[in-house]
Amino acid sequence: MPDVQIRIPGMPKEYPVVIESGLLSRIAPQFKPFEGRKVVIITDENVAPLYAEKVMAGLEAAGARPILRILPAGETTKCMEQLERIYDFLLSGGITRTDALLALGGGVIGDLTGYACATYLRGIRFIQVPTTLLAQVDSSVGGKVAINHPRGKNLLGAFYQPELVLIDTDTLNTLDQRQVGAGLGEVIKYGCILDAALFEQIEACGSRQFLAPLYPEIVARCIELKGQVVYEDPYDRGLRMILNFGHTLAHAIENAAGYGEILHGEAVCIGMVAAAAWGARLGVTPPEIESRIRQVLTAYALPTEVPAGLTAEKLFPSLALDKKASGKDIRIVCLEAIGRSRTVPVPAARLKEFMAKLL
Ligand code: NAD
Ligand code: GLY
Repeated sequence: MPDVQIRIPGMPKEYPVVIESGLLSRIAPQFKPFEGRKVVIITDENVAPLYAEKVMAGLEAAGARPILRILPAGETTKCMEQLERIYDFLLSGGITRTDALLALGGGVIGDLTGYACATYLRGIRFIQVPTTLLAQVDSSVGGKVAINHPRGKNLLGAFYQPELVLIDTDTLNTLDQRQVGAGLGEVIKYGCILDAALFEQIEACGSRQFLAPLYPEIVARCIELKGQVVYEDPYDRGLRMILNFGHTLAHAIENAAGYGEILHGEAVCIGMVAAAAWGARLGVTPPEIESRIRQVLTAYALPTEVPAGLTAEKLFPSLALDKKASGKDIRIVCLEAIGRSRTVPVPAARLKEFMAKLL
């Protein structure tokens, strides 16, 4: 199992991502830069009983002053009301710019805490300790932070890089299999868009059982890939959009189903199959890729079909709010091959047609 230190060349600063099995049990030295500072740990009700004590002990041993804030678990927590409660908590606790917030949990806690960091006092120090597979391979690095709006996913947000990301891959041992699956969706996405060898490795393993021992190296590989993309395009103006392969439909599904009903990573799986089919219609994606993606998702017990009841009429309004939209076009991410991708502008009306055929 690798102990990995990756430096993500973010804008405007570079930051380390430390990946180690068992890291939380020996985490204190990582917190030395926060000696004498208050560090507010934002976590949720599922993660707190499992890991908050270890993080608090590490902070105390490093001479920092930990303060714990526990929120409800789940996607609905990524909202304005919870954000306002965090601001109130920070203000009443006298938290200043030289103090820090630490996100301990999955992508929901990471995105919400990061947005609080970006905006509180115009920016406060930010540490990520991701505990889901999805957050470890994707959301904890790259600096996209956000909350949801009732009209769409992640519509209120910022680019705000953490200064430290600490990943203990042992935390995946307590994650339930549905959440593991959601993370695997994002892992398969990296293979599709950037790394044919990773995709083939996942195909060859053929099931979660055989892939699980490789999670530490897979987490490291995904972060390396994301780091390269974020370095080229930190503000999502071009290349970085490929990280949103499958996300155009995914965000619409999450919104139309009601936040939290279908997990983000599950929606991405369904969205990747649709994006492969749309890419084939546009003449960009070789037709056999759709079934190759379907097969690998099925082998890993991941969804491939839009859930019954989500009609084109229900999905299209939030699809039109996609952040990759530009004028009347929506840019979708298409595969030219497994491991190679680019964005393609599609008139909104044509996408609506594609969608009607899909459903
Ligand atoms: P999540 O944060 O809701 O966590 C999933 C569930 O697992 C929660 O109930 C949580 O309490 C529980 N949990 C977390 N760690 C655990 C552990 N180790 N053991 C047991 N239970 C644990 O979901 P997620 O899938 O991590 O994140 C989804 C969010 O991430 C979405 O809002 C999505 O939009 C966002 N996201 C952001 C980015 C980005 O770049 N910022 C990228 C991808 C996804
Ligand atoms: N998860 C997509 C991105 O970070 O750009």
